[in-house]
Amino acid sequence: MRALLVCFALITVTLTAPFAAAQKIEVSVDASKAGAKIDRHIFGQFAEHLGHGAYEGIWVGTGSAIPNTRGIRNDVVGALKTIKVPNVRWPGGCFADEYHWRKGVGPQRSETLNPNWGGVIEPNTFGTHEFMDFLDQINAEVYLSVNVGSGTVQEAAEWLEYLTTAQPTALAKERAANGHPAPYRVAFLGIGNESWDCGGNMTADYYLSQLKIYSRFVRNFNPAQQDKQQMLKIAVGPGGGEPRFAEWTEAVMKAYQNRQWSWDINGLSLHSYTVVRWPPAFKSVGFGEAEYSQILKATLEMEGLISKHSAIMDKYDPQKKVALVVDEWGAWYAPLPGSNPGFLVQQNSQRDAILAALNLNIFARHADRVRFANIAQMINVLQAMILTDKERMVLTPTYYVYKMYVPFQDATSVPVSFNAGAYTHGDITLPRADAIAAKDKAGKLWLELTNVDPNQPVDIEVNLIGITPKSAAGETLTAPKVDSVNSFEVPNTVVPKRISAKVQGGKLALKLEPKSVTVISVEQ
Ligand code: AHR
Repeated sequence: MRALLVCFALITVTLTAPFAAAQKIEVSVDASKAGAKIDRHIFGQFAEHLGHGAYEGIWVGTGSAIPNTRGIRNDVVGALKTIKVPNVRWPGGCFADEYHWRKGVGPQRSETLNPNWGGVIEPNTFGTHEFMDFLDQINAEVYLSVNVGSGTVQEAAEWLEYLTTAQPTALAKERAANGHPAPYRVAFLGIGNESWDCGGNMTADYYLSQLKIYSRFVRNFNPAQQDKQQMLKIAVGPGGGEPRFAEWTEAVMKAYQNRQWSWDINGLSLHSYTVVRWPPAFKSVGFGEAEYSQILKATLEMEGLISKHSAIMDKYDPQKKVALVVDEWGAWYAPLPGSNPGFLVQQNSQRDAILAALNLNIFARHADRVRFANIAQMINVLQAMILTDKERMVLTPTYYVYKMYVPFQDATSVPVSFNAGAYTHGDITLPRADAIAAKDKAGKLWLELTNVDPNQPVDIEVNLIGITPKSAAGETLTAPKVDSVNSFEVPNTVVPKRISAKVQGGKLALKLEPKSVTVISVEQ
């Protein structure tokens, strides 16, 4: 992967000429070489009990007129199956550190509060069994976040026993009585959430003392997950690039290096939102090129953040056994006017499609360390895949990026080099193009090519080493404007369309439309 070279050339771009001739960018792809696997888990999702993320977005209840299977809406399940969601993080977020799982199992559900997110009533009707059913319906793995903030080790340990034991314990019998005699599979365990902030404002040392105890006692008893497919444990990690977060990563990774037999971790979480400033003030719709370029500049900081924390991890874990888990990322804008500010409702535009592609490409380039990520959040919250309004559902531009990237799930990276060129707006200059390449399990080569420039197309010429192309085609996603969205009334403004490349002298040639994300495969 390190063979990847992005030269940030200072090309003068004429910004005021939308129909100016396309600039040319040469991309070289060495298909004879293999890099790290792009783990499918970097395409993970996050479903918190927040606003209409879980309730209405997933759960409508068995009595709903909205078509559902055991209370889970069918349209959402169908859409999520298409993008092959690998894992879902649940129940939070900040909510996880106030969640008590017992309130959400059995015939009697007690109402509690959701103080973090609007102070609304949490009905607990979407609980453990409903979540597991949902994951079963979309065929995704569980990433369970246990309560380290206001819960106890015993509570978390009992949750895992309830979920996973095959022995006839009282908790297993209770699970069976609640409808699931067989043990559940729990693939990933998050031990706390943002414990340096909403998760209890802990120091790194205090958190470490908790982490060791939770890691020791919150066991997975599923017989199928003992020798193989063991549950992977993810510790709270940094929340940005500030010195205090470097210290946090140092502390956890140093402890990991010196760990005793009795505890272990497999991942370190990283949270980073594209927000520019707090409180989130950028509009999610109704903005122009200035906001487009500012947000994309901010999102590219993900590269430096990952490099910074990866370098610290390398000191204590040079074999890269611990994954960097970017389990909260995405754009966080001002709440839509008229919405409950605690529900984090925003629209999703073509800018978000570009933002998603740029971040997924950063993760892919760090595939040796970044093996897991969760965009925030899956439905109706922040940078969502799906928006719902009662019986209506709309798929966002970000959804389509995830759909187009499906071939990259578990594909093997192939080195790419290119001169990115430059796109300038005002005092902001960004790399104009971005690209990744990978081979899927069948050996087919896939390329992703992004044109960040919202005004000018890019002529791409791809020089392929190690393969002789016959044809190349795929899909491209662009939109009339940087803030074009899919609405309930007009749901198909931003949808992918077919694109094909010309094959000339063993090279591929294609024109990328302004502000576009393109994925093509190469036939040989
Ligand atoms: O995704 C919304 C919130 O952002 C999460 O609950 C929290 O972990 C983060 O601060």
